[in-house]
Order: sequence, then structure tokens, then C-alpha cells
Amino acid sequence: MLNLTPDQVLSTTRSVRKRLDFSRPVPREIITECVELALQAPNGSNLNRWSFIAVDDRKTIARMAGIYDAALEDYVRSLGSAVGDNYVGAAVPGFERVGDSVQYLRDHMAEVPALVVPVIRGRPEGLDVFAQASFWGSILQAAWSFMLALRARGLGSAWTTGHLNREAEMAALLGIPEDHTQAGLFPVAYTLGADFRPAWRRPVEQVLHWNGFHTD
Ligand SMILES: Cc1cc2nc3c(=O)[nH]c(=O)nc-3n(C[C@H](O)[C@H](O)[C@H](O)COP(=O)(O)O)c2cc1C
Repeated sequence: MLNLTPDQVLSTTRSVRKRLDFSRPVPREIITECVELALQAPNGSNLNRWSFIAVDDRKTIARMAGIYDAALEDYVRSLGSAVGDNYVGAAVPGFERVGDSVQYLRDHMAEVPALVVPVIRGRPEGLDVFAQASFWGSILQAAWSFMLALRARGLGSAWTTGHLNREAEMAALLGIPEDHTQAGLFPVAYTLGADFRPAWRRPVEQVLHWNGFHTD
């Protein structure tokens, strides 16, 4: 375990891509421990509709990486001319580095020691806002807890949803039933060094509204 306070874990759990250590194996026990902690997250009516698919088989990882790569290619194509400086995220500080880092992970996904796919029973299509919030809210907290638990132990991940344009392909590869939904794809590795910092975010004064939503 790293010697981090709860606030340090919360403020320095980054999307790690370039600093994933591909050469150091991740024991299954660590992933089991982190998933066990993730299961303490809140979930609607405590139904425990979640599953976590952990993959450490090299051939399967390679095929998953191929789906991720192809899905990102679809995404980039779908953006048309809304790329580079026209990309919606281009106004955010550090944008250039994020693009570079995303590409790095895309190029190296097949090398990660393990991949984890959080899955929830049910489908979101056609749900009203209440049902959507209940649905996604019953898997995403657990996924984030998983990332925090990794960070506390000197490992890292990157939150990715890029492959979900090809969700059905991944479901076929991993045998995920049609009435289940994938929430993302999480590479898991020890990190190269453990020094991560808080990232740029809009300041709290702009984001926190007291006693109602204010637009000024
Ligand atoms: C819903 C969601 C989807 C994301 N999808 C991807 C992705 O497909 N690929 C990727 O490399 N990063 C992805 N990210 C990571 C973001 O780029 C990252 O969280 C953001 O740049 C802020 O950086 P930080 O997580 O290090 O603070 C995603 C993050 C979230 C929350």
C-alpha cells in the first residue's frame, strides 16, 4: 500500500496511460481485492446487478485491444472536421497532452497486464431519467472505487468508454449476455512511479451553487 491520505487518493487518481508498467505482472489477488472493495459502492436497492470481467489471457487481451482500436477509429471518423483545434475538448488546459496520451494507450492496449470490464444486468435503451440514473449509478461508483483501490496500492488504470461503439463485438468475445451492459474498459497495471498530481478542473467557485442554480 502507498502511504497516501484519503484526500490524496481522491485528488491524484488520474487516468494513467503513459505510466502503466507493461512489464510487471499484476497478481490476480490484487484485482480480486480491488473488486471486493468496489463492491462496497452504493447501488440501487442493493440489487448487486454488477459483474466485473477481469482478463489476463494474452490472446483475449490482444483481441480486446483490437476492438478498442477499431472503435476509436470509428469515433475519430465520426468527428469529421471536429478534430484538432475544432475538437470540443480543445479549450481545456492540457488538451494536447491528453490527445497524445490517449493515442499512446490505444497503441499499447494489447500490452497491459490485465483488462477489467464492469458490467451491469439490464439495458439502458429507452429508460427515463430516473431509471437511467439508477442504472448507471449502480455500476459507475463501483468502477471508480476500483480505480481508487488500485491507486492506493500503487497500480493505475484509465477510465475508458471508447470501445462501446463496438459493445456487441466485445460482448461476443467475452460471452456477455445480451441483456447486460458494459460500462467501460479498464487497463490495469502497476504505475511507473507513484507521484501523481491533482489535475486542472473548473474552480469550485464556478461549480458549487448554494441554495439553487446560479448562472452569473
Ligand atoms: C466517461 C469517460 C470516458 C472516457 N473515455 C476515455 C477513452 O475512451 N479513452 C481514454 O484514453 N480516456 C478516456 N477517458 C479519460 C479522460 O480523458 C480523463 O478522465 C480526462 O482527460 C481527465 O484526466 P484525469 O482522469 O487524469 O483527471 C474517459 C473518462 C471518462 C470519465
